[in-house]
This record gives sequence, structure tokens and C-alpha cells, in this order.
Amino acid sequence: MDGFSIRQARLGDAEGVYALIGANVDRLVPRSLGNIVESIDRFVVAEAGGKMAGCASYQIHPEIGAPEAATVEIVSVAVKEDFRRRGIGRALVEAVAERAAAFSPRELVTLTFTPEFFASLGFVEVPKTKIMHKLYTGCINCTKHADPFTCPEKAMIRRVRERNL
Ligand SMILES: CC(C)(COP(=O)(O)OP(=O)(O)OC[C@H]1O[C@@H](n2cnc3c(N)ncnc32)[C@H](O)[C@@H]1OP(=O)(O)O)[C@@H](O)C(=O)NCCC(=O)NCCS
Repeated sequence: MDGFSIRQARLGDAEGVYALIGANVDRLVPRSLGNIVESIDRFVVAEAGGKMAGCASYQIHPEIGAPEAATVEIVSVAVKEDFRRRGIGRALVEAVAERAAAFSPRELVTLTFTPEFFASLGFVEVPKTKIMHKLYTGCINCTKHADPFTCPEKAMIRRVRERNL
């Protein structure tokens, strides 16, 4: 069984997504089931062998006074352990990036403990000061680290291709 497919998440996937994110809270921001349900339209899932093998989503962070400069953050990327290193994570991020490209953001950002994965997808590390709106909307409520600048997560950015601007 090597094949997989990526599709829009459905409400029936919410519990599986919740469990998958919950199994990776050392590397992902935890999310409640209710939060996943209300943002299910922004999730994609991977299916392999008739089962959900992974998920990914995005979050828009507005920039005050500059709506066109809103940051699109790639979030909640997870692949079940048995399905890793087969290209599913890459396909999930590209599916989310394609959706985001439809509304023409300048760039995609991520905060990650797995920079090698995002580097393989063309993301480059930047100082966290480059994504202050993300820090304000997310990191400010973090329960793991008091200061986003001492948190070991790496900030990474990928410019959206010219044709999508
Ligand atoms: C990170 C994660 C999503 C990768 O999923 P995956 O399906 O295994 O990724 P892919 O097979 O698409 O990998 C694509 C490339 O990324 C790189 N990569 C993937 N996982 C990596 C890892 N753990 N360490 C270093 N490089 C990695 C490799 O270059 C890989 O290509 P290769 O297999 O040909 O060498 C998965 O390991 C996971 O769910 N981890 C726990 C949650 C997490 O860390 N999410 C990241 C968001 S913060």
C-alpha cells in the first residue's frame, strides 16, 4: 500500500484530526474538537489504505491597516507515524498552499520544530521579528514558553510564486 490521496476535510474527519493533532502536541499547538469543527473548511486530509493518514490547515493573521499584508500561516501539519516519509506531508502542505494562493497572500509562514521538512518545501528561516502579527495572535497565549524569542521553534517563510500575486 503506497498510494495516497489528498482531499478537503469533512465534518466526519474532525475526531480523527483531533486525535492526530493530540498525538503530536510536543510539536503542534493543541486544538479543541470544537475549534477543529468550526475551521474544518480550512483543513485538508490525506487518505491511504482507506484511512486518514494526515492533516494540514492554515490560519490568516491580519496586519492592522494593511489587509493585503496579512500573513498566512501553515498550521496543524501531521502525518501518522506509520505513513511518514512517503511524501504525504509534502502533498498536504502543497494542497494548503494551493488553497491559500487562491486569495493571493505575499507569503506563507510557519513556526516549526521540524525545519528540515519545511526547508525541503522551499521555506527559509527568518528572524521571528518578521512575523510579529503571528506572535501577537498565537504566541502571546502560549503555555509552553513565556517568550517567543527564546522558544526553540524556527520561523520560516516561503514567498508565494509570482503568478499568484
Ligand atoms: C513533519 C511531518 C509532517 C513530515 O511528514 P512526512 O509525510 O513524513 O513528510 P514527507 O515524506 O512529505 O517528507 C518530505 C521531505 O521532508 C523532509 N523531512 C520529513 N520529515 C523529516 C524529519 N523528521 N526530519 C528531517 N527531514 C524531514 C525530507 O527531506 C523529506 O524528503 P525525503 O523523505 O525524500 O528525504 C511528520 O513527520 C509529522 O507529522 N511530524 C509530527 C508533527 C510535526 O512535526 N509537524 C510539522 C509542523 S510543526
